Amino acid sequence: MDADRWAAVDRYFAEALIPPDPVLDAALADSDAAGLPPINVAPTQGRLLHLLARMVGARRILEVGTLGGYSAIWLGRALPEDGRLVTLEADPAHAAVARANLARAGLADRVEVRVGPALETLPRLAAEGQGPFDLVFIDADKPNNPGYVHWALELSRPGTAIVVDNVVRGGAVADPASRDAGVLGVRRLMELIAAEPRVVATALQTVGAKGYDGFAVALVVG
Ligand code: SAH
Ligand code: DHB
Ligand code: MG
Repeated sequence: MDADRWAAVDRYFAEALIPPDPVLDAALADSDAAGLPPINVAPTQGRLLHLLARMVGARRILEVGTLGGYSAIWLGRALPEDGRLVTLEADPAHAAVARANLARAGLADRVEVRVGPALETLPRLAAEGQGPFDLVFIDADKPNNPGYVHWALELSRPGTAIVVDNVVRGGAVADPASRDAGVLGVRRLMELIAAEPRVVATALQTVGAKGYDGFAVALVVG
């Protein structure tokens, strides 16, 4: 098993199950043209986020880490017309690309891109009385994952689903001696959710177009 095989199977599933989508293709092309790194979720993963949002009947979605808005388009399309997605991005240049991509997707009225470090914008959302959100997707800087999950819980209700991207770190997440800040962030996140009586969680390893990685999925139950 190798990365080429994983990518070929991802392509096969995407071609079999996901219709061609010029708006998503253009979002990636414009992100690339603007120099954004290609660290968006894969199409199959984007559709998983979309399906999770529909499964929980999400009307309000929170995303941490917008990049060029690729995952935000998948999530925004799961919303009803009066639904709302708030997506948080530290880099104003990324946010500008995302806003244009979301507008082209016809989602400008439903999606708000908030610029700033998420550990500043999350408490502001809470202070404004935003939320509870029905689904939270955490996909920004990995060392801050513990703080993001803390605020996700503050902005949740029983029934909220929380998804965290990139929890595998090439497998290093299983190394208790790792000093990598991303690994430490993920391991601390796992400890937090394991000790948190308000959530039931699991984590899954994935392979595919984006290589070897994984998601944590948590349900707020209390
Ligand atoms: N969810 C996107 C990918 C996000 S990549 C998709 O799948 O399409 C991670 C993003 O998090 C980058 O755009 C990066 O600029 C942003 N980011 C990094 N640190 C951040 C912080 N402290 N607060 C908010 N966003 C941050
Ligand atoms: C990186 C970030 C991501 O969110 C991702 O899905 C893949 C890679 C990164 O920072 O390298
Ligand atoms: Mg990611």
